[in-house]
Amino acid sequence: MNASAVDLRVELGRLSVPNPVMVASGAFGYARELAGFIDLSRLGGILPKTVTKLPRAGNPPWRTVETAAGMLNSIGLDNDGLEAFIEHHLPYLAGVGSPIIVSIAGANHDEFVEMAARLEQTTGASAIELNISCPNVSHGVDFGVDPRMCERVVSGVRAVTSLPIIAKLTPNVADIAAIAKAAEAGGADSISVINTCLGMAVDWRRRRPLLGNVMGGLSGPAIKPIALRAVYQVAKAVRVPVIGIGGIATIDDTMEFLVTGASAVQIGTANFYDPTASIRILDALPAALAELGATRVADVVGTLTK
Ligand SMILES: Cc1cc2nc3c(=O)[nH]c(=O)nc-3n(C[C@H](O)[C@H](O)[C@H](O)COP(=O)(O)O)c2cc1C
Repeated sequence: MNASAVDLRVELGRLSVPNPVMVASGAFGYARELAGFIDLSRLGGILPKTVTKLPRAGNPPWRTVETAAGMLNSIGLDNDGLEAFIEHHLPYLAGVGSPIIVSIAGANHDEFVEMAARLEQTTGASAIELNISCPNVSHGVDFGVDPRMCERVVSGVRAVTSLPIIAKLTPNVADIAAIAKAAEAGGADSISVINTCLGMAVDWRRRRPLLGNVMGGLSGPAIKPIALRAVYQVAKAVRVPVIGIGGIATIDDTMEFLVTGASAVQIGTANFYDPTASIRILDALPAALAELGATRVADVVGTLTK
């Protein structure tokens, strides 16, 4: 198979993206910061840092700790609020040339709906990702833990926006398939998995946790097996497309997620130590797909034989 004949376009419900390689929320700033390293217009999607309705200062330091094959963070959704995002960041993002998927987190149901309705009045967003999975804010994961709350918040947002909706789920639940089904029932166009895994790091000499907020979210290669498991379970449970996130840093990681059931991937922590990771993966993707005899990304998605 000829790599140049491979079509990289992917349909994620009503969201069409030029290729399946996106960058994850919170690991790519507001994109400006990375513009000197890569051609942003080549990305399949950019997810800026999650925005909340009002500005948030985030959690006390330390907010990041390196761990074996990963990192812990307890940033706590530090951001300047939705209006500042619309004024200062969205105009730049809108001109970048790749799909902009705005990640939002409401403090409650009504805030999610209000924020989605406000974004509907702006231009520049191609889709909305609902961050119902942040482990670092008080009650931040409620919507991603309880299927009824999840379905209600997705359908509430669905009712006020014409933009495609991605529901981003937490792995910190007993039954992720049940939450994914609820998001699909609420009208999500696609499901992204996973946000970080709740963890801790400790300094035993000082008898103190290393993170100011005690617990934080584990990310990076350490969580890839958990993310693959989540993609496998969610892809089997829903009909909408799944976006894989968690420890992806190479073309091999990416192909593993695609065959396991992801239609696209988001690169998070890898951007911190290699800002070119997403583009390296994108450059290698046609040949990897061709190696499996595929002419389209969809040809390999969910093709695990077991
Ligand atoms: C420092 C840091 C900040 C993050 N902030 C957000 C965020 O604001 N919103 C969100 O949905 N996910 C956030 N995440 C989670 C990532 O988007 C991603 O789901 C997770 O890190 C797993 O992917 P990775 O192993 O490739 O990093 C953050 C992750 C890190 C490491």
